Amino acid sequence: MKLESLNAYENAYRRSVEDPEGFWAEVARGFAWQKPFTEVCSWDFEGPSVRWFADGVVNITENVLDRHLASRAGQTAIHWEPNDPASPRRSFTYQQLHDEVCRVANGLKAQGFGRGDRIVLYMPMVPELLFAVLACARIGAIHSVVFAGFSAHALADRINDAGAVAVLTADGVQRGAKTIPLKPVVDEALGGCPSVRKVWVFPCTGEPVGMEAGRDVAWADAVDGRGGVCPAEPMNAEDPLFILYTSGSTGKPKGVVHTHGGYMVYTAYSFVNVFQYSEGDVFWCTADIGWITGHSYLAYGPLLAGATQVMFEGVPTFPDVDRFWAACAHYGVTHFYTAPTAIRALMVHGDEPVKRHDLSALKVLGTVGEPINDEAWHWYHRVVGEGRCPIVDTFWQTETGGIMLSGLGGLSPMKPGHAGYPLPGIQPVLLRADGSEIEAAGEEGHLCFKHPWPSILRTTWGDHERCRLTYFSTHPGHYFTGDGAKRDADGMFRIIGRVDDVINVSGHRFGTAEIEEAINQAPGVVESAVVGYPHDIKGQGICAFVVGSGTAVAQEACDSVVEGIGRVARPDRVLVVPGLPKTRSGKIMRRILRKIAEGRADELGDTSTLLNPEVVSALVLVSKQTA
Ligand code: WT7
Repeated sequence: MKLESLNAYENAYRRSVEDPEGFWAEVARGFAWQKPFTEVCSWDFEGPSVRWFADGVVNITENVLDRHLASRAGQTAIHWEPNDPASPRRSFTYQQLHDEVCRVANGLKAQGFGRGDRIVLYMPMVPELLFAVLACARIGAIHSVVFAGFSAHALADRINDAGAVAVLTADGVQRGAKTIPLKPVVDEALGGCPSVRKVWVFPCTGEPVGMEAGRDVAWADAVDGRGGVCPAEPMNAEDPLFILYTSGSTGKPKGVVHTHGGYMVYTAYSFVNVFQYSEGDVFWCTADIGWITGHSYLAYGPLLAGATQVMFEGVPTFPDVDRFWAACAHYGVTHFYTAPTAIRALMVHGDEPVKRHDLSALKVLGTVGEPINDEAWHWYHRVVGEGRCPIVDTFWQTETGGIMLSGLGGLSPMKPGHAGYPLPGIQPVLLRADGSEIEAAGEEGHLCFKHPWPSILRTTWGDHERCRLTYFSTHPGHYFTGDGAKRDADGMFRIIGRVDDVINVSGHRFGTAEIEEAINQAPGVVESAVVGYPHDIKGQGICAFVVGSGTAVAQEACDSVVEGIGRVARPDRVLVVPGLPKTRSGKIMRRILRKIAEGRADELGDTSTLLNPEVVSALVLVSKQTA
């Protein structure tokens, strides 16, 4: 499975394009199957319908856990680093991880949960979250992790969309010096979620929480005495493994669906090859399991590969800005994977906090989630990587399940700001708006893929047509990412960014429409428009133009976003304006708003054809006053 040279990559790539089925069948045979597959891939991007290894029977957790017990039962699977460095660290061998997962799985079964049930996890980054994710998979339930920064309203939407029967949560979460309650958020959400029968509560903060008789169960009561092996439920390769909600340009977030077989094969393959992980290495992905990166490159990929990894509960700046580097030194981290936003936030504190620590074990650095600017790339490379560690800039999406474009740590050439080359099995194309293909270097186009890979999304939960419309209708016969990209003369890809109304804030995705919908709930707000703008640390910031009345309308707009979506989507700037620029047909001219938010009001061009050209000067004025 592991490519050991650039030449091996090139050969594998060629083979994967000439004979995708032969290529992936060989990779997939390296896993433990309860019943081997004979069919490899059937697909059409019109339906769309994609099936991989469809007649195979497999449970991903047998490959995450059981398969390792013969050779690495005593090897550390997880080093857990708590938010507060003074709290006890916890670590788990593969045997212990197996036993913990079985205990939670047995607890879930004892309450009558099983195959096909949707279970929502709304938890901090404690080991129990990982146990719960794998326990759901173990019994054939479909997990849906909701990042613990989302609001009650957003949580309720996701629970209801999935029809979840249980919610696993904690009393609260400690993030840096702050304590944030979670159970009260769940209680509020569940007022409108009739499908939920049980709530498990893990004690993290020790704050007292209300427990509803018959519904709420203390974690210990649910799992104590549930020891013993829980056999892995035999799953069809195409059975759903999880749903993960992600934002798009329209409507409510969509539940992206991934499956046991294809997701397993692709996350393991991409992990080993992109990071060039070797036996004895220590991998650390800093992402929260609430996002896809934490699913694919913490909960699944590395464990499928039998890796030792770090799982971190806290934030990069607590108790000090050297937290990442202190932990890297402590665990002898060899592979470190984080987001550009974290690098930029730490870079402003200079080199000294990094230099305080011995980072000589580091071999490969990774970045993900948003384009990385040259300055951050060079700092990461020079200071953190001491000029000797290759950087892999990994482009992928919730929908792709795994890394699509990236260097292979140390094997392939790298260039700042460039994700690089497609992984074997990945066939990217750049298309113009009219669907014609861009072959030459330098021209920007829509980044699409023309052949399925094992971990492509299968559907959006409960609404297959939405999946077709969103990803497969813009360029018929292709999966469309929503991103613009270019290829350079060396064939390396550079991601320019989203071409739709999606904003990428600190590597997290939000639709402008969903933020506007939340803002419009505020009492004094008449209408609003949201755009992204370049932000030094976050990559993109959220700028809201709000038309409304009352002295507190800006604050109300922010509160409304925190209530409707969560603190993760709080606008960075709110401009209270007398009107929004509109075309004669009443459409908001976002182009003008974007320019104003970017501070480039001098580039507005001709605005005289607007329905209300007079608002433009008022917008410019407000923007200068609140800059
Ligand atoms: C969007 C996907 C799966 C990674 C975490 C985010 C942007 C992702 C890169 C990169 C430039 C990137 C794209 C993509 N993106 N990685 N290496 N360089 N942009 O997952 O929330 O599904 O967002 O993140 O715009 O479409 P996500």
